[in-house]
Amino acid sequence: MLDYISKLDRALVPPEGGARSIALLGSTGSIGRSALEVLRLHPEKFRVRALAGARNIPLLAAQAAEFRPDYLGLMAEDDISRLRGLLPADFNPVILSGREGYERIASLAEAEMVLSAQAGAAGLRATYAAAAAGKIIALANKESLVLAGGVLRAACARSGAVILPVDSEHNAVFQCLAGGIAARRDGTGQTQSGVSRLILTASGGPFWGKTREFLKTASPEQALDHPNWSMGAKVTIDSATLMNKGLELIEAGQLYGLPMSALEVVVHRESVVHSLVEFCDGAQLAQFGRPDMRIPIAYCLGFPHRLGSGLPGPDLPALGALTFARPDAENFPCLALARRAQERGRGCPVVLNAANEEAVAAFLARRLAFTSIPLVVEHCLDEHWERVAGEAGRGDGQVSGLSDAGPEDAGRLGRVGKNAPDRYADAAGERAAVEGIFALDALARSRAKEIIETLPRSI
Ligand SMILES: NC(=O)c1ccc[n+]([C@@H]2O[C@H](COP(=O)([O-])OP(=O)(O)OC[C@H]3O[C@@H](n4cnc5c(N)ncnc54)[C@H](OP(=O)(O)O)[C@@H]3O)[C@@H](O)[C@H]2O)c1
Repeated sequence: MLDYISKLDRALVPPEGGARSIALLGSTGSIGRSALEVLRLHPEKFRVRALAGARNIPLLAAQAAEFRPDYLGLMAEDDISRLRGLLPADFNPVILSGREGYERIASLAEAEMVLSAQAGAAGLRATYAAAAAGKIIALANKESLVLAGGVLRAACARSGAVILPVDSEHNAVFQCLAGGIAARRDGTGQTQSGVSRLILTASGGPFWGKTREFLKTASPEQALDHPNWSMGAKVTIDSATLMNKGLELIEAGQLYGLPMSALEVVVHRESVVHSLVEFCDGAQLAQFGRPDMRIPIAYCLGFPHRLGSGLPGPDLPALGALTFARPDAENFPCLALARRAQERGRGCPVVLNAANEEAVAAFLARRLAFTSIPLVVEHCLDEHWERVAGEAGRGDGQVSGLSDAGPEDAGRLGRVGKNAPDRYADAAGERAAVEGIFALDALARSRAKEIIETLPRSI
């Protein structure tokens, strides 16, 4: 429990003068914009060293003109001159592009903290670079832990990096643990937690309670209309399928070192209780707050101190009642698929995530029906598992218990290395593992695209 994030006794207190230097990856996205809103409230406490977006050049230029970072990052080299042209004449930051650019920004010597808030699997490389460079990582990009929890744990242990969870559920758990006894030591260097279960809350998304018939013809506009949270498009669709909660189960297992059997999901439509920790004595601690990402973001940015987020607490009497229900496994199969993927390990979470990203993109482009998203994921997972099981049967694969694919996975689906426990022995092993994960990711995406072509289009 809390194995690598428990390195919190490393002084996370901001340096003298109080200003914490920070690099924001994904600054033009929903999380990035919320983070900048929090930073705006505390100009004396933070120095923004770098901002990175991808394609929204006008917004990146406006953010840069306001925060004056030393570095900017964007996706395409071709956009550098356009961005430069939108900056104030007296402002001349270093502008970096593409994968290498993001990785450089994630590991800048000038930045003590890195907000990892890029969308999708692409965020893993930058998160890994920040972990390898020993940063305090405020992690929003859940895909990083889904794809490469083992690699990131190894990199953090080696470099002294720390992960602070931005995702609201994991942040809620973190707050409950920090408020309880979990962060205390028992004198042997082990954390004493007494934690028996984590209970992640799910809003249920826009389609909770809808019939199967409705779901079959659900449109992207309906799926994007989330009742409580304002988020980027991909995570909003994941919220509608409950895949978001499935990814969060995997994320929680990786972050807190717990098996799937100790992780539960409860549907809580009001999104006021953001998750709960249950202890061995039957006590449960919960974190309450408005459904607004500025609260977990402020908690991470200021940690270990509390920062104003610009929001008041929830008005409980006005809410009247809070409700809790079990998830509907029949209409929302993604949750069970994610659980199965993590339990099986051996690259399954990588395949799950890649197939889901492709299916969600196809749904948003009206090339796939909403109810076909889990079908694509299940198909890819089953094929992958058959192949892995076949290799294991022949004795040329090996159960690793880790979700990450190994470096040996490059070029084919499903093989897990024979020396799994040692494969992240050094930075080179970690980097090779990350490349192996992306090779598996690419194969799973191309298979998902083929399957999508055979399924009904969305309305
Ligand atoms: N939004 C939430 O409330 C929320 C809550 C919990 C966790 N998360 C997680 O936080 C991450 C970001 O979510 P979001 O909702 O903020 O997403 P978003 O609004 O879509 O923003 C994504 C950010 O990543 C950049 N980006 C997109 N594709 C990229 C690529 N291939 N390489 C590098 N950068 C890329 C975007 O740049 P441009 O816009 O300039 O193209 C933007 O800055 C996701 O992993 C999500 O699951 C989000």
